[in-house]
Amino acid sequence: MPAHDLFRALLVGLFAIATLTTQAHAAANVERGAQASRSCVACHSFAAGRQLTGPSLAGIWGKKAGSVDGFGRYSEALKTSDVVWQHDTLDAWLRSPSAFIPGNTMPFGGIPDPAVRADLIAYLQAVSSGKVSVPDRGPPDLKRVEAFRQVVAIRYCADAYRVTTGDGRNTIWWEFNLRFKTDGGPNGPELGKPVIVGNGMQGDRAAIVFSRPEEISSLVRRDCP
Ligand code: HEC
Repeated sequence: MPAHDLFRALLVGLFAIATLTTQAHAAANVERGAQASRSCVACHSFAAGRQLTGPSLAGIWGKKAGSVDGFGRYSEALKTSDVVWQHDTLDAWLRSPSAFIPGNTMPFGGIPDPAVRADLIAYLQAVSSGKVSVPDRGPPDLKRVEAFRQVVAIRYCADAYRVTTGDGRNTIWWEFNLRFKTDGGPNGPELGKPVIVGNGMQGDRAAIVFSRPEEISSLVRRDCP
């Protein structure tokens, strides 16, 4: 091949690559990103100020890693990483969080497909810039619950808890299937007013949420009927 033909072929090739790259970027789609964000919402809210297992991602674009206000459970690794969240850093993070910032505590394997990552990043940017508004679907307000959820007494006997609720009902739970949790946050229950939630599975499991850990032992009475 003469030199100028080779040069032409090279140019055409370069042009094709450039076009493809542009298309890949142009194709990033906020709506598809919103769909893809379903793999995040178990741990993250996209509404401002709502901290779950992970920090709110509402304003993450352009922010230094580990600096969302009101989230107090960052790993040292993330806090000291000196990463600023924009396209390239989010892409590397979402491809493999553990490879990008070793020692971080986000229990997430990563997204191998670059197109899915691009959509998700477009969505994160749109949320941060206010182009997309996200309703706050955080946990319910446990200060305002119906009577059947309001726990008024907990008695412990043999291998069971007998729970009396505000509607006057008594339910009996195998001790292994009843969890005790605390929520001292703004949506947690009122002091001294624990709430029973999530009668999951076949209705054989539940959790009682207290405002503070000290309440647990003071509210549970050893008492056999
Ligand atoms: C199983 C829970 C879980 C899932 C699922 C999860 N994350 Fe996280 N994420 C966390 C936790 C916990 C942290 C804080 C990690 C740390 O401090 O090392 C975090 C941190 C982050 C950060 C850094 C925040 C900051 O303030 O620097 C980003 C960005 C992020 N996650 C995005 C995502 C996206 C996007 C998804 C979905 C594709 C996702 N995460 C899925 C739990 C999760």
